[in-house]
Amino acid sequence: MQTTKVSTVSYSSQNNCSRTEQSLHLRGPPTAISDGSFVVKPVLQSNDSSFGAEIGGVDWTNPIPAKVVRQLVDLQDKYAVLIFRGTGLDNDRHIAFSQQLGEKLEVNPFFHGIEKDRLQEPFLWDVSNIELDGSLVEKDSRRWHHSLGNALWHTVRVLNHLWHSRRLASPVIYGQPTAEELSLKPPAFHKLVQTAPDGRKTLYLAAHAKKIAGRSFEDSQKLIWELIEHCTQPEYVFSMEWLAGGDMVWWDNRQCMHRANAYTENMTARDVRRATVIDDGPLAFGVNAEELVPGKERKETAA
Ligand SMILES: [Fe+2]
Repeated sequence: MQTTKVSTVSYSSQNNCSRTEQSLHLRGPPTAISDGSFVVKPVLQSNDSSFGAEIGGVDWTNPIPAKVVRQLVDLQDKYAVLIFRGTGLDNDRHIAFSQQLGEKLEVNPFFHGIEKDRLQEPFLWDVSNIELDGSLVEKDSRRWHHSLGNALWHTVRVLNHLWHSRRLASPVIYGQPTAEELSLKPPAFHKLVQTAPDGRKTLYLAAHAKKIAGRSFEDSQKLIWELIEHCTQPEYVFSMEWLAGGDMVWWDNRQCMHRANAYTENMTARDVRRATVIDDGPLAFGVNAEELVPGKERKETAA
């Protein structure tokens, strides 16, 4: 559905969440396809496209051979979202596998030292709901409010206007991000229409998107949300359920958006760890302000 220049791997080492309606909704022919050594179960399929697939047949007990990585990247290009069950990867092997997918991993800008990070790894983002001492995130804490933005459709990029979506989801707490937060995730400009790895045109959309060059803020938001609504019609969306520790989802932000369940007072522990592979394409970091049309928008949109 969408674009961004970063591929992402997520990993759940522990899943205590109760099952809800958020199951993996398989649509189309419920068939498994043998693809080399893999077993591929597509999630959404139409005559001319596929979106999402559960992949079996990968031996995660050993380092993944380069040839297998290339085959998996081909599957990523085709399906955008790949789901693997029970990988058994630990932090080191999660990182090692992610590094096979691209030259550089994004360093978590919110990593403030081993003693302050539950995962103790700057290459992993702790996208759990668990605090350093093992307790669940406290209701109405700043981290709680930050999570509300994750329940909006978004993509992951090295730079985007993250704080716009935080403000949308939690206007009181994130009406004004702190100076430190702004410096850690500054805004950037991205092309709305981009090209997927297989040459198809895609839209780069997210709740982070604040303004379109050449349009007013109001017109921009209207168009952005019309496009998001179009791309998130039920026939284009599926939910993935974490079934057991070690389940992993790999998604290509150049081709899809994602969102998470918001924190609730009844939630149980959700231990999810994300590695982010920086895309090596020319649009990975967005475009320069000079490339905006018209140029006079530069000042207005850089806030
Ligand atoms: Fe996310």
